[in-house]
Amino acid sequence: MIQLHDKTFVPFIGQQKIALAIEKLAMKISEDVKGEVPIFIGVLNGAFMVVSDLMRVYPGNCEVSFVKMASYEGTSSSGTVSKLIGVNENLEGRTVIIVEDIVDTGNTLEVLHTLFSEQKIKVLKTATLFFKPEAYKKDLKIDYVGIEIPNKFIVGYGLDYDGLGRNLPKVYQLKTQQMTNIILFGPPGAGKGTQAEVLKDTYNLVHISTGDVFRYNIKNETELGLSAKSYMDKGQLVPDEVTINMLKAEVEKNEGANGFIFDGFPRTEAQAKALDKLLESKNTQVNGMVALEVDDEVLVKRLLERGKTSGRPDDADESIIRNRIKVYYDETAILKNYYQKQDKYFGVDGVGSIEEITERLNNVIDGL
Ligand code: IMP
Ligand code: MG
Repeated sequence: MIQLHDKTFVPFIGQQKIALAIEKLAMKISEDVKGEVPIFIGVLNGAFMVVSDLMRVYPGNCEVSFVKMASYEGTSSSGTVSKLIGVNENLEGRTVIIVEDIVDTGNTLEVLHTLFSEQKIKVLKTATLFFKPEAYKKDLKIDYVGIEIPNKFIVGYGLDYDGLGRNLPKVYQLKTQQMTNIILFGPPGAGKGTQAEVLKDTYNLVHISTGDVFRYNIKNETELGLSAKSYMDKGQLVPDEVTINMLKAEVEKNEGANGFIFDGFPRTEAQAKALDKLLESKNTQVNGMVALEVDDEVLVKRLLERGKTSGRPDDADESIIRNRIKVYYDETAILKNYYQKQDKYFGVDGVGSIEEITERLNNVIDGL
């Protein structure tokens, strides 16, 4: 996931797929030119990477040149007029292949063809790495197409969003759903806290830890904090409504966030439903419940190990640890079921190095 100006982009087409498509383009072109030396004319700025890679795999002699389309205000009522700048070669009698990074509506290509048709070119053909068939509005035939893509805005490999992104070796597509809201779960000892910190930075999310929110509200004696405390002091569970309102206030404090990591919430189906409603009112939704999965025996071992140095009494006793794990599964079963029904439950193997687990989480989140 990357951020360019105000927009977020997610990986779409990898380097290998691009390389393969370019190789195919090169082979097809070389078969078709039948021994002629073609001149590739790249359309700047976007096509610089395609042209460079295309030439490198082209099996034979070829030449290269670049053009740039320049628009200027026409003097007549015709409005904007285009002209070509950059071609100094004599193209008379040559086999010319226009190389585009992307053909979208086809407007640019049509103008290019008109401008080139003024020269006495022998064969004029068009190659493009990316093509959006749903957006194409012209009859002009495109001779060589690398990869057809849906009508989505992409960046990378020469393509830009307002100047940025051209240097990326992969292609990314615009993330249409701007917020990423994750519910992070994991049994005690699964490394949830560590991973939440990493995810927060990677995806620029706001981490809402319910425990922290409670402590903050109680410490600052907010209305909701005092209300929560009155139940806790009587040894009662804080009603969902109070918890939900605290979370709601927290979400509203972060208007404009890229998304949230909910940690320790929801705990009941009623809370899950309330969260759905809250996010819906913000025109967004829960993208997924991501749960770190670690075998009980591994957890017990980890926590006992941690207990030796942390001094936490609940980490020192195996039966207490086992009970905490059991409580976790009892509590989350309902929620797992709730999100599974919506295809929003993602179990992630929580055994391995921190980096390995982070990578698994990133793969899940990138796919949301
Ligand atoms: P046309 O609509 O085919 O004339 O495309 C015009 C130009 O818009 C292309 O040469 C690109 O510079 C740009 N463009 C079209 N689609 C995209 C995209 O998805 N990402 C980045 N630039 C694009
Ligand atoms: Mg272009």
